Amino acid sequence: MAAKHDVQDLGTVSLKLPDGQELELPLLKDAAGNRFLDVRKLQPTYNIDELAEQGDFTDSCYALLHGELPTAAQKQEFITDLTQHTMVHEQLIQFYKGFRHDAHPMAIMVGVTGALSAFYANASDIGDPEMRQLSCMRLIAKMPTLAAIAYKTAKGQPIVYPRNDLSYAENFLHMMFSVPTERYEVDPLLSRALEIILILHMDHEQNASTSTVRVAGSSQANPFACIASGIAALWGPAHGGANEAVLRMLKDIGSRDKIPEAVKRAKDKNDSFRLMGFGHRVYKTYDPRAKIMKQVCDQVLEHVGIKDELLEVAMELEHVATSDEYFVKRGLYPNVDFYSGIVLRAMGIPVSMYTVLFAVARTVGWVAQWKEMAEEPLQKISRPRQVNSAAHFSWHKDPCP
Ligand SMILES: CC(C)(COP(=O)(O)OP(=O)(O)OC[C@H]1O[C@@H](n2cnc3c(N)ncnc32)[C@H](O)[C@@H]1OP(=O)(O)O)[C@@H](O)C(=O)NCCC(=O)NCCS
Repeated sequence: MAAKHDVQDLGTVSLKLPDGQELELPLLKDAAGNRFLDVRKLQPTYNIDELAEQGDFTDSCYALLHGELPTAAQKQEFITDLTQHTMVHEQLIQFYKGFRHDAHPMAIMVGVTGALSAFYANASDIGDPEMRQLSCMRLIAKMPTLAAIAYKTAKGQPIVYPRNDLSYAENFLHMMFSVPTERYEVDPLLSRALEIILILHMDHEQNASTSTVRVAGSSQANPFACIASGIAALWGPAHGGANEAVLRMLKDIGSRDKIPEAVKRAKDKNDSFRLMGFGHRVYKTYDPRAKIMKQVCDQVLEHVGIKDELLEVAMELEHVATSDEYFVKRGLYPNVDFYSGIVLRAMGIPVSMYTVLFAVARTVGWVAQWKEMAEEPLQKISRPRQVNSAAHFSWHKDPCP
């Protein structure tokens, strides 16, 4: 608390909480510093399920960048602005040819996103607010293009340029699946499912990749290079790579009769095997995003009507694990990656692209958090302290015999 003589009581201000409850809080003049919170500067919060069910990609994207949902005019302006940046420099496309044919698309994404910092060297001027905003828009707009080119290169198909008359999700599906020989119609249910996946994966407080972007950005590095560092951190199976790991695990399990054995292994402390897509560092209960993702999953599976044994294994595994005492006691529920992997498979997206899609979505959160940090009046480089537990040795001048 501040000393009494520092502040003046100016009455109260009311704060409306997301559940509708209103709080009357004291308003103090001259109360500033890191031990105070000026409630007048708090930004509105939105429920993720409302955003996913009622909003679209642009709403969530705008809200993350600007702190509140857009008006109709702001939304239109934002879409126009974003679509101006969907193409990438033709020379960047040459970079893809330098990778081995079997390169993982995440390896390609780390490389080409980092390479963009050479195309936008002036983005390093992070003190310029217009340049910061431009970098954010460029990154969000170009990420699906970069991802789709990675896929087309691996497939040996000609790359497909973005179409600005399509929505963000529709355009991504178009660049992934359209070929010059046939007319491609985007399936509205699948593009909406993809849009919900993107919204649910956009941001999630200080996860490993977002913290990595912030640490890299704290040195005032070029933002395109910072986002490349985020992609690297996202890649691992304990983070964004989990959706890919889920499908690989389901393939290894192979059939429903092998599920009890897999569950037994996951519970065995002498076995490093874990059920991928189960558990979360923060949520020790049902992940709210997973609830929405499960609904999308059910809709997509019904829509595509594919008889796929792997998807049946997934549904059975979900049932067995969620009724097993080991998982219930530890609060291990299917997370968002469990269902998103299944939806992406049903949509025909190859496993190696799952984490890439996550990176496309999370770019919005990364740039929003990077921008927020760059706008802080106090710029401090991130520098965790190291505790050295090594023994100290004294230096002997005489060499050992
Ligand atoms: C996400 C994850 C890294 C969170 O880890 P965490 O919060 O550090 O949890 P812990 O590693 O401390 O695990 C707590 C307990 O649950 C067990 N556990 C956690 N996740 C498990 C899983 N997926 N399968 C089996 N057991 C699991 C641990 O063995 C531990 O058991 P114990 O208390 O008997 O030792 C972890 O749950 C995991 O590896 N999940 C699979 C990968 C995944 O889906 N990642 C995406 C997250 S969005």
